[in-house]
Amino acid sequence: MERRTVGAAALEVGAIGLGCMPMSWAYTASQQYGEESLRAVHTALDAGVSLLDTADMYGPFTNELLLGRVLKERRADAFVSTKVGLLVGEQHIVANGRPSYVKRACDASLRRLGTEVIDLYQLHRADPEVPVEETWGAMAELVTAGKVRSLGLCAVGARAGRRPGSRLHDATIRQLERVQQVFPVSAVEAELSVWSPEALDALLPWCAARGVGFLAAMPLGNGFLTGTLTPGSGFEPEDVRARHPRFTAEMMAANQPIVAGLRRIAARHGATPAQVALAWVLTRGRDVVPVPGTKRAAWAAENAGAAGVRLSEGDLREIAELPSGVGSWE
Ligand SMILES: NC(=O)c1ccc[n+]([C@@H]2O[C@H](COP(=O)([O-])OP(=O)(O)OC[C@H]3O[C@@H](n4cnc5c(N)ncnc54)[C@H](OP(=O)(O)O)[C@@H]3O)[C@@H](O)[C@H]2O)c1
Repeated sequence: MERRTVGAAALEVGAIGLGCMPMSWAYTASQQYGEESLRAVHTALDAGVSLLDTADMYGPFTNELLLGRVLKERRADAFVSTKVGLLVGEQHIVANGRPSYVKRACDASLRRLGTEVIDLYQLHRADPEVPVEETWGAMAELVTAGKVRSLGLCAVGARAGRRPGSRLHDATIRQLERVQQVFPVSAVEAELSVWSPEALDALLPWCAARGVGFLAAMPLGNGFLTGTLTPGSGFEPEDVRARHPRFTAEMMAANQPIVAGLRRIAARHGATPAQVALAWVLTRGRDVVPVPGTKRAAWAAENAGAAGVRLSEGDLREIAELPSGVGSWE
């Protein structure tokens, strides 16, 4: 698989990453089987994927423990990205960016992952009660201590914090400017997909201009862009899509032309719509690494295969002309 060099700390990873979240969080909980998840991680690594994206809050904690089982045998094949700053309670999730907490959380992540160093440590969400420079300063000290190789900022929550009239990532960019004064940002993780391209407006150019890597979260549109979901078939109550505005039967039906377009292009390449969706993300920049999430080995292999799909100028024009996604949080 093609390798990409990402960010201030010159991190080298396979062009396609693996999002490990669905193995323990967010999607179809009834189908989370540890052994199949382990197969998915091994399959991805075998195919040249190296970036494994997890977080202490996925599970909580069980996702890192699961990866720890793989890392025990294959640490050298993997690039470990985990996150700090969110705590999961009974019915709620809260941010904690206090320096003393960050340091404790890092030690706990290292223990669960069974590794001596985290390759990319991301701030999952800034704590409104703590100046972000203080949280970032504590994370920088972890680099100095040799527990972490590089720092990243996660901007996936931008939609919830957006102010009316502002662009999706204006606040993220202000936050990035602040933390850059303290310690270099190596990577930003934010949503980027064919039906959610907002990061292309300002956030990705900000990263590209500074040599900051970009991890594309939700590159498959939470599974929608793969064409395997049927409008109206419903979701399990804890599945994030059960409350997602784009996953009502009506919005899923309205967005079908996007899937149909990906399917048309896929047919010409002997590929799948998921692979075309990922190949498009890869064309958005040399420092962009999509991290498609799955808990299934077959899909991990399929997604890794997207690195071999070369979209033509005509394909890219066709994707640019697809209708915009409808259904929004606002
Ligand atoms: N930092 C953050 O706040 C944040 C937030 C969201 C995501 N992320 C990261 O980004 C990663 C990717 O995002 P995501 O997992 O939410 O969304 P995604 O990659 O857009 O889609 C994941 C969904 O697509 C399904 N899927 C994956 N490959 C498929 C294929 N080839 N064919 C059919 N269906 C397929 C998965 O099913 P199964 O579950 O059944 O495998 C899962 O339901 C996450 O895993 C996580 O690491 C970070």
